[in-house]
Amino acid sequence: MTVATTPVPMPAAEANTDVVTDATTAPLLNVRNLETWYGPIVAIQGINLQVRRGGVVAVLGANGAGKTTLLNTLAGVIDPFKGGVWFDGEPVHGLDADAVCRRGLVLVPEGRQVYPFLSVRDNLAMGAYARRDKDAVRADLARVLAWFPRLKEREAQHAGLLSGGEQQMLAIGRALLSAPKLLMLDEPSLGLSPLLTQEIFRIIDRIAQETGTAVLVVEQNAAIALAHAHDGYVLELGRVVAADTCAALLKKSDVRDSYLGLGNAAGLSGAARWKRRKTWR
Ligand SMILES: Nc1ncnc2c1ncn2[C@@H]1O[C@H](COP(=O)(O)OP(=O)(O)O)[C@@H](O)[C@H]1O
Ligand SMILES: [Mg+2]
Repeated sequence: MTVATTPVPMPAAEANTDVVTDATTAPLLNVRNLETWYGPIVAIQGINLQVRRGGVVAVLGANGAGKTTLLNTLAGVIDPFKGGVWFDGEPVHGLDADAVCRRGLVLVPEGRQVYPFLSVRDNLAMGAYARRDKDAVRADLARVLAWFPRLKEREAQHAGLLSGGEQQMLAIGRALLSAPKLLMLDEPSLGLSPLLTQEIFRIIDRIAQETGTAVLVVEQNAAIALAHAHDGYVLELGRVVAADTCAALLKKSDVRDSYLGLGNAAGLSGAARWKRRKTWR
């Protein structure tokens, strides 16, 4: 684990220039020149990224691009070597993961990580352990169970008995019970069927629309992420190689071809399309 050094002050004039178009509103999350190393290996470098309040932002990129490292650095799981993270107007780089989470920047890590021997209900309650507003917790629990009827049906079961998709829903539900301002999801569709993936992304839409919670979602599935997010960032070898609104990214044929594995589907045979695809996970 590396140690935080020389945080770069947020340049006021630059704060809103990358993707966010409304220059009068400060972003909820502002990442400046972020750099993280694993021992002698640099994993992400020079990352600038913003998420506005209530915004849904996708981070895309092939296996090993640095997506998980980025989220873990934002969540305080790893300290950055360089650069800074400002959340809700305050610097959070260098804080412990627990302190970052309590400020409302909440990560659902890759691979779900539910407590298998606790019931679904107790897993959800773990998300709210630090909250004192018990009435609001009850309301949030009711909302999560309404969004995920499968969890309601299995409330009393051990979480370890749930399917992969249900465990993903539980991990998202548990994170929502901590009342996040920004929910970060690391590859929520990993290993899920297309139908369940659709269901997860419909919930992501509802989280943003009905609660105003912003979402930063890392995805293997570029097509679905770009269809649901507002802004997108493409990572390659630890750097941002494209950042724009999702609508604009979808129109850029070089980005579609080289980074998103979407290609020019109409113009390629199935085999050629397969050869052009990158490896996604
Ligand atoms: N714990 C670790 N120790 C050393 N290198 C790591 C570690 N975790 C990830 N890496 C390396 O950092 C780079 C980015 O990895 P990661 O953030 O997991 O990418 P992604 O989530 O996009 O697949 C890769 O080259 C990976 O091999
Ligand atoms: Mg990853």
